[in-house]
Amino acid sequence: MIQKYRYGHPFETEAVFMPVKETLGQPNFLTVSGDKALSFSYHMSPNDIVYGLGEANRGINKRGFRYKSFCSDEPSHSEDKESLYGAHNFLLIKGTITFGLFLDYPGLVTFDIGYTHLNELSIEVPDCNLDLYIITGASLLSIVNQFRKLIGPSYIPPYFAFGFGQSRWGYQNTADIKAVADGYQKHNLPLDMIYLDIDYMDHYKDFTINEERFPNFNDFTAEMKERGIHLIPIIDAGVKIEDGYSIYEEGKASGYFCKKEDGSFFTAGVWPGRTHFPDMLNKEAREWFGSKYEFLTLQGIDGFWNDMNEPAMFYSDEGIKDLLSAVFATDLSTASADDILPIRDKISGLSNRLEDYKLFYHNVNGTPIRHDMIHNLYGYNMTRAAYEGLEKIAPKKRFLLFSRSSYIGMHRYGGIWTGDNSSWWSHLLLNIKMMPSLNMCGFLYSGADLGGFSCNATKDLLLRFLAFGIFTPLMRNHSAIGTRNQECYQFEDCEDFKGLLRLRYRLIPYLYSEFIKAALNNTMLFMPLGFLYEDDPIAAHTEDQLLFADGLMLAPVYEQNAIGRHVYLPEDMLYLKFTSENTYEAVPLTKGHHYIEVSLTEVPVFIRKNHFLLLADAANSTSHIDQTTFTLIGEKDASGTLTLYRDDGFSKDYDSPSHYTTIQLADGSLTSSDPALHIIANLY
Ligand code: GLC
Repeated sequence: MIQKYRYGHPFETEAVFMPVKETLGQPNFLTVSGDKALSFSYHMSPNDIVYGLGEANRGINKRGFRYKSFCSDEPSHSEDKESLYGAHNFLLIKGTITFGLFLDYPGLVTFDIGYTHLNELSIEVPDCNLDLYIITGASLLSIVNQFRKLIGPSYIPPYFAFGFGQSRWGYQNTADIKAVADGYQKHNLPLDMIYLDIDYMDHYKDFTINEERFPNFNDFTAEMKERGIHLIPIIDAGVKIEDGYSIYEEGKASGYFCKKEDGSFFTAGVWPGRTHFPDMLNKEAREWFGSKYEFLTLQGIDGFWNDMNEPAMFYSDEGIKDLLSAVFATDLSTASADDILPIRDKISGLSNRLEDYKLFYHNVNGTPIRHDMIHNLYGYNMTRAAYEGLEKIAPKKRFLLFSRSSYIGMHRYGGIWTGDNSSWWSHLLLNIKMMPSLNMCGFLYSGADLGGFSCNATKDLLLRFLAFGIFTPLMRNHSAIGTRNQECYQFEDCEDFKGLLRLRYRLIPYLYSEFIKAALNNTMLFMPLGFLYEDDPIAAHTEDQLLFADGLMLAPVYEQNAIGRHVYLPEDMLYLKFTSENTYEAVPLTKGHHYIEVSLTEVPVFIRKNHFLLLADAANSTSHIDQTTFTLIGEKDASGTLTLYRDDGFSKDYDSPSHYTTIQLADGSLTSSDPALHIIANLY
């Protein structure tokens, strides 16, 4: 059951897809207080678990910290960080009372989950206009399912987007891109996508191409596609201020950029230097910006990543003026540390200042709305602009599209990547913990920068990152300029990567099928163990193992120099250890605690009773995966059904019954509803 409580006159965020009638009175379970600002509190029992918050720092269980929903360009995801790039105000409390909660408010929300007082949950909103949804149901899964129906269906990418992608900030020209394709293809390592970071643009101007470094772009994308590689360019939020640059001139002439109170356009410094922010909350401006993606689709591009859309700013005119006046007001001959340190703080605080977010306005149906009040909707609406634009450009085609910043509701338009992580082992663990929370909020097409974005990756870190990444729908190796080269072929004995990458390609038809079913049925691909084994306290408090798809459990190794790890099995399972793309060991294991040895090139997977894993033959490109021949792995005495979804990979007719094949195993014999399907059963 979903109950909606309305306070004041909330801003229409369009997070919710399925209208719900308002319930009058005060919500069950929560104590509400405040008048100009609202505060919701809940007393937690010591063993209550609090799931949720989508793209947030720390654990699967969010207890013991304070989180702030305020989309932030936060390049260092250290443990003390309270905000990351997304704002996903969904909590799921499991315990004495089990319920879900969605707070639909587009500005700052603070979630104090046992931070100030160990057993108190308190949610603070500096405003009295918002919608609160309380969701109850028979199980955690049913609550998530209802929430997902409320916020609408998840974005579905094309089939090729499930391949492996290589990215790096700093690929300067076509030769660099070709070298990446060569590097992978020469070593027989699969690859479907190479990402173009800001370097492909002319002076970092959106919807331009640097023709010196990327001449005849049309021919280049065609040539790369011939080689099975899709090029995926980045699009940034800020539009460079430059006379004669058509996007700037058009935006200026139509008044499509965010304005200050005095009517002038707000200026922020981002990669291109001084920029204006397109007003993504203005419908007309959004349509205009979305239509611009055509410039690249006409040149053979079929995927995009939207970046810097918190929106991120390195500085503003106002911030610089403030800094300079502090500098000039300081007499160096007499200044003490107390005079200089505030200047140092001003310099380090120049980026993404709250004061700057209060300086500009959106034009929402003719009403000016100050940016900080609806801050969390900017990236959401940039990606919506792209999605809706692409829908007009090619209505029948799916494009690859994901964003850095997001709010609940953006999952209908694109996926997300989890931003600028580091080549740290703790960030591999963060990636593992974040996936189920993202799925709860509808973000199914998601993943981290594998290997880590900042800092230097070591080969063992990349191998372990990839061993988890082969299960994340978005599987991309991305790194920052100036860091050690991180493409798989750059490391010694790079054939060590082959087994992992080719195993991903063996998994793709299964992963794709499970993904589409999860999107269409509002279920999750990654789940905390506690979602299935609600009454098993060890399972419910396990933070480093995940349930995956229909009937698998993952237990990735995430520590350097580990030769394996401890695994808890909440029930008997079949343990598979992939030792290469084609070989694996299969051992039935009993419920309880085990230590498994896992070398750097191995992948452990656990199959639950009466469930199966389906593998295709290995291939080096999604377009070469044979979708008619599979190996099914399960236990000897298993009986069960697996529904396999297959389609052409780019159309949108998901509902056609012809896409579904039923594969059934009973009494050791295998049947399938598609006689053309060739399945070899490997039962143990
Ligand atoms: C931002 C993005 C990162 C990208 C860089 C340069 O930091 O998060 O992925 O490589 O900008 O465009």
